[in-house]
Amino acid sequence: MENDIERVLISEEEIRRKVEEVGRQISEDFEGREPIFVGVLKGCFIFMADLIREVKVNCSLDFMAVSSYDGTNSTGAVKINKDLNSDICGKDVILVEDILDSGVTLNYLKNYLLNREPASISIVTLMDKPARRKADVFADYSCFEIPDEFVVGYGLDYNQRYRNLPYIGVLKKEIYS
Ligand code: IMP
Ligand code: MG
Repeated sequence: MENDIERVLISEEEIRRKVEEVGRQISEDFEGREPIFVGVLKGCFIFMADLIREVKVNCSLDFMAVSSYDGTNSTGAVKINKDLNSDICGKDVILVEDILDSGVTLNYLKNYLLNREPASISIVTLMDKPARRKADVFADYSCFEIPDEFVVGYGLDYNQRYRNLPYIGVLKKEIYS
């Protein structure tokens, strides 16, 4: 598995420090409120597990599953495969994503959830690839801005593999070309 990685882009230690910092910031910003974290499966699962343990206010969580991505190229279409179980009306929603790429997924989800009249929607993303943005969407909290390279690990996959790598690595081009 590790032979498929060209180089480590973000180490375990860098991730740990940054997630701690963003968790602290969210705790401050949501002091006295009770946000609901909404994770976008599956890529978010490790990041979300680490992040919420750094959050010091009462909170709840739920998940959505969407498909918009096939291999390394976004299809541009977003399909909801699993919707929320919770009612978010009047609540502070914090959407948790692994990576903000074209922005098509989060832009769609944000508008979809706004219809349910939450008190607010914020976006937290582990990584942001601004070079590839197509939709007009930005993250309120972003841990790492990264170049336009295909990355895996710490929850992110290529064709369902590599999610178990503890760091974020650039995948060798020969694996997906
Ligand atoms: P967007 O709709 O183009 O912003 O796509 C976001 C989704 O594409 C992310 O949630 C990931 O699942 C996937 N994605 C985008 N870039 C990468 C990458 O470099 N590695 C793995 N998945 C990626
Ligand atoms: Mg994803």
